[in-house]
Amino acid sequence: MTDGEREDERDMVAANAKLRLAASRSAETDLVIDDVSMHFDTREGRITAVDGVSFAVERGEFVSIIGPSGCGKSTVFNILGGLIGGYEGTVSVGGEIVTGPHPSVGMVFQEESTFPWRTVIDNVAFPLEVKGVGKVERHEVARRFIDMVGLAGFEQRYPSELSGGMRQRVAIARTLVFEPKILLMDEPFAALDEQTRLLLGDKVLKIQQDLKQTTLLITHNITEAVQLSDRVVIMTFRPGRVKRIVDIRLPRPRDGGVIGSEAFGRYVAEIWNDLREEASRGMAESEAGARKGRG
Ligand SMILES: Nc1ncnc2c1ncn2[C@@H]1O[C@H](COP(=O)(O)OP(=O)(O)OP(=O)(O)O)[C@@H](O)[C@H]1O
Ligand SMILES: [Mg+2]
Repeated sequence: MTDGEREDERDMVAANAKLRLAASRSAETDLVIDDVSMHFDTREGRITAVDGVSFAVERGEFVSIIGPSGCGKSTVFNILGGLIGGYEGTVSVGGEIVTGPHPSVGMVFQEESTFPWRTVIDNVAFPLEVKGVGKVERHEVARRFIDMVGLAGFEQRYPSELSGGMRQRVAIARTLVFEPKILLMDEPFAALDEQTRLLLGDKVLKIQQDLKQTTLLITHNITEAVQLSDRVVIMTFRPGRVKRIVDIRLPRPRDGGVIGSEAFGRYVAEIWNDLREEASRGMAESEAGARKGRG
C-alpha cells in the first residue's frame, strides 16, 4: 500500500465514523460514544479496558453507568471528558467530535479533588475566579450552590476540617457553580453513607431539573442508579462492553420516596440479576490473581 492509499483509507474510515455518528444522533443528543475501544499496555501485557462501547445521552437526560470494579467505567468517563486519547471509535459532545476538554462539560471525579489550601467558599468559587468574576458576585453564587449541597455554615472551613463526604459535596458544588450544560460524575457519592447519599441524590436531581442538565453518572450503587436515572447502562466485567440498557420508567419529579414503590424494587432486582454474573466473574478473576501471586 502506498502512503497516498494509506491516507485515503484513513480518510475513509474517519468519514465513515462521522456518518455513523450523524446517523445515530438527533439534534437533541448531547453525548455520543460510538464503538469506542481502549487498550492499555501494562507490565502484564496489553489489556482491553473498554471494548466497542456505544451509547448516546439525549439533552436533559439522566443516564447512569453501572458495572463491577475495573470494568472500564472511569476510562469511559475520561474519554468523554476529553482527558485521554489513543482510543478507537468516536466520541462527540454537544454535536462536536471530542479532541480535548469541552467548555460545556463539568466533571466530578472519583478521587477527592478539593484544594486543601482554599476555604470551602473559595473552593466552590474557583471556576468563577478563573473566569474573572468579581469577589462579591462569585461568593454570592458560590453560597447558592453551597446551600444546595447542604453545606451552609461551613463556608470558611478548610477541607481538612470536613468529613470525606462533605469534601465530596464541595467538589460537586464547585463543578455545578459554572452551570455546565453537561455534567459527568464518576462515583461522586461513593464516600457517603446511605442516608446522606439518598438526600444528596434528591438535591442533585432537583439541580439537574432546574438547570436542565444532561447528566452521566457512574455508580456502583443500584438503588442510586434507579432513583436518579432515565436509563441505566449495564457494563460487563473485563473487557468492558455494554451488556444491556434499562429504561427506568418511574414518574418524575422523583424523590427518595420512590424507593418504597414496588416498581422500584423490580428495577433493582432486574439490574442486580444482570450485574451479579459480572460481579462474580470479577471476583473469581481477582481471587485467581491472588492465588497466582502467592504461588
Ligand atoms: N492508565 C492506565 N494504565 C494501565 N491500565 C489502566 C489505566 N487506567 C485504567 N487501567 C485499567 O483498565 C481497566 C479499567 O479501569 P477503570 O479505572 O476504567 O475501571 P472502573 O470501572 O472505573 O473501576 P472502579 O469501579 O474500581 O473505579 C482496569 O483493569 C485498570 O487496571
Ligand atoms: Mg472508576
